[in-house]
Amino acid sequence: MRIVVLASGRGSNFQAIIDSINTGNLFVSCVGMITDNPSAYAIERARNAGIPATVIDYHAYPSRLEYEVDLLAALKELLPDLVVLAGYMRILGREIIFEYKGRIINIHPSLLPSFPGLHAQAQALAYGVKVAGCTVHFVDEEMDAGPIILQRSVVVKEDDTADMLEERILKEEHIALSNAIRLFYEKKLTICDRRVVIS
Ligand code: GRF
Repeated sequence: MRIVVLASGRGSNFQAIIDSINTGNLFVSCVGMITDNPSAYAIERARNAGIPATVIDYHAYPSRLEYEVDLLAALKELLPDLVVLAGYMRILGREIIFEYKGRIINIHPSLLPSFPGLHAQAQALAYGVKVAGCTVHFVDEEMDAGPIILQRSVVVKEDDTADMLEERILKEEHIALSNAIRLFYEKKLTICDRRVVIS
């Protein structure tokens, strides 16, 4: 199975996928990494792993629409069976979502539907929840709202800072994302309305 990863920054989730492939825990071929950010560390990670990296600099485009046209063209060239948003910090346009319907997944650092959007871990801490976590979900037109595949939780400690909580959640993200990719290629996921049934 061919996967393409979209990442905007540090790329630790991308690295976790690379590591899972290299240790034989994930039988997929990562055929490319695409980033909207020319200074994303994910580019370095792709280079080190011998994975082709494509930079489509969002800020070099006059409009989001034109950016999306090139992004879709780059995706199509790579013929992905699955598109993995691993710290991709933009909302995907309708055309791309339509083209890869049911074949795009995203990792988000909260137990959705709580705390969508940016700084989810800090939102959770400020709200005072006792349990936080991460969610892997299919991507639809709404932000952080598609059918949920997997969630992993962490206990919020009394002396947690947002950074400490973020670090603990990140470890769970790395596990959850690889697990979700595995369930996808094993064809164990069926979307029934809002629910993802795991067989
Ligand atoms: C992760 O917490 C991810 O859930 C969120 O952005 C962060 C990206 O981290 N969407 P990394 O780039 O994978 O290290």
